[in-house]
Amino acid sequence: MGIVVDREKCNKDKLCALDCPIGIITMDGPDGFPAPAEGFDQLCINCGHCVAVCPHEALSQGGITPRQCLPLEAPGLGPEQLAQLLKGRRSIRRYKEQPLEQSTIARLLDMARYAPSGHNVQPVKWLVISGRDKLMHLAGIVADWMRQVIKEDPELAESMHLDHAVAIWESGEDRILRGAPHVVLAYAEAEDLRAVAPCILALGYIELAAYNLGLGACWAGYLNRAANNFPPMIKALGLPEGMASYGALMLGVPKYKFQRIPPRKPLEVTWR
Ligand SMILES: Cc1cc2nc3c(=O)[nH]c(=O)nc-3n(C[C@H](O)[C@H](O)[C@H](O)COP(=O)(O)O)c2cc1C
Repeated sequence: MGIVVDREKCNKDKLCALDCPIGIITMDGPDGFPAPAEGFDQLCINCGHCVAVCPHEALSQGGITPRQCLPLEAPGLGPEQLAQLLKGRRSIRRYKEQPLEQSTIARLLDMARYAPSGHNVQPVKWLVISGRDKLMHLAGIVADWMRQVIKEDPELAESMHLDHAVAIWESGEDRILRGAPHVVLAYAEAEDLRAVAPCILALGYIELAAYNLGLGACWAGYLNRAANNFPPMIKALGLPEGMASYGALMLGVPKYKFQRIPPRKPLEVTWR
């Protein structure tokens, strides 16, 4: 769809051309204004950078106008507050029974839309499952998957401590979905290698955003393992044809507050 330049506003500062990740905006338009290079339409990834970077609201691209962009404020978090957010987030494994409003979950998912994705493909879709009955049903299917792995692949079962996990489940405790009121699952085209990082990043955004709102999340690793391999789970999740799960989070209101940040391995870095 090309680019549209408002000649009244453009001051030819080249920022749109300099920031274009593909380098398909030139300053070779009539009178030296920005113009699409050859092949623009095929190569443009619609990332909106050219529109977002222009200080003069002079450029629109592929139907993205400056007015359609959200206002951008300087990030309100100081470095210490950001460090507290990143270091203070914990995996939450005890939840209050109280469910979250759908609008709260939607708010978290909305923020995750802004996570990066290779070539701006934005492949992530979401399945949100709410209600303890449904989650206990899913956890039971995860336990069946664990029993199958214990039988068929004892080595894998041992590496994932599945014997222990099944014993706990059979004792009546849900350590699979941890009593959470919701699970959010990121899915995308099956076997799309480009979807792996964006799904994981989007889930990471949600984990941090949830913590920032006083909510809690925890990766549902066992559920995700079963989601693509175990037919009863594939059936229970009912993802659209050709789609696969790339990760899932439990979500809810934390029962307890953490009082301090536990230590982590020392930084290992090679400086060159
Ligand atoms: C891919 C992945 C899968 C995980 N799966 C589970 C899980 O199934 N159950 C669980 O209680 N925690 C799970 N976790 C949480 C980790 O155990 C947790 O991140 C780690 O112990 C560090 O604790 P922290 O997140 O509070 O810093 C998972 C984490 C990741 C990244």
